[in-house]
Amino acid sequence: MKKIFIKTTALVAAVLAAGQLWAAGATFPLDPFPKAKLNDLAALQNGAKLFINHCLNCHSASAIRYNRLQDLGLTEEQIKENLLFTSDKIGDLMTIAMKPADAKQWFGVLPPDLSLTARSRATYTTSGPDWVYTYMRTFYRDSERPTGWNNLLFENVGMPHVLWDLQGVRTLEKEQIKKSTDEKTGQEVWKKVFTNIDEYGLRTVKQEALPAGGYYHESTQVKWNAQDAAKVKAYDSQIADLVAYMTWMAEPYAKTRVQLGVWVLIFLFIFTIFAWGLNRAYWKDIK
Ligand code: HEC
Repeated sequence: MKKIFIKTTALVAAVLAAGQLWAAGATFPLDPFPKAKLNDLAALQNGAKLFINHCLNCHSASAIRYNRLQDLGLTEEQIKENLLFTSDKIGDLMTIAMKPADAKQWFGVLPPDLSLTARSRATYTTSGPDWVYTYMRTFYRDSERPTGWNNLLFENVGMPHVLWDLQGVRTLEKEQIKKSTDEKTGQEVWKKVFTNIDEYGLRTVKQEALPAGGYYHESTQVKWNAQDAAKVKAYDSQIADLVAYMTWMAEPYAKTRVQLGVWVLIFLFIFTIFAWGLNRAYWKDIK
């Protein structure tokens, strides 16, 4: 038993070190967003600052007013001085000045309103914050895209990697196992495809045939190489702050709802005792 345990942990460690691996047809695996950030006011404030400075140029968040940031412990003065652009009033919604027609011309698509993205990107089995957290950390240079950027989670995305200077330069190695059919014989052939994407987004592709008769399945494995690993780690923490803010923004009342829920349960518990006593009193003479 112990041996098996050691073997599996060794394997898990090996996969982690090598990067991420996923099967054909499946989307890129999501990294868990560190939820503790949701209760960290300093992180939420930093997230708000990042969001307003770097995302509101293209995206709106029109379900939220600037003065709601007071719920994150910011004073009206702090919001006015650090987060409001000259023409905005503290009671204004987080809208943007960019015209939809211009946006379409520049990016090919309209940058969507981000008020609810941390919720709308959730599925039955995966969480919305995990999606945004992974998305913001999987951009790579791609010379074949009009913006010069691509994304592992959101293939051929219209958004450039706006925070790239915070993350630093990274290159990507992809290793894919692929199936194809031999044109002459019509037989199944399996190959390994190595793709290297350098810091300019240029690809070098190498292929090698896998021995016939083996048992294979299609999969993709990626590995990032960062010039400055510490910078990438600091970037991850900044993105966690940003996602914490976006999660709060998608449901500013979440905390109140949970607190209220506790009181409702306490009430129901006490009420049950009374109801049970009353029930007993009613039936006492009948029985
Ligand atoms: C230069 C303009 C621009 C900036 C700045 C920008 N984005 Fe985007 N973003 C886009 C565009 C365009 C899309 C639509 C991409 C598509 O559909 O291909 C997008 C899509 C997204 C999506 C996917 C939404 C969805 O559900 O499909 C998320 C999440 C997102 N952006 C987050 C951010 C965050 C967070 C920031 C700030 C750090 C940011 N964006 C800054 C242009 C921008």
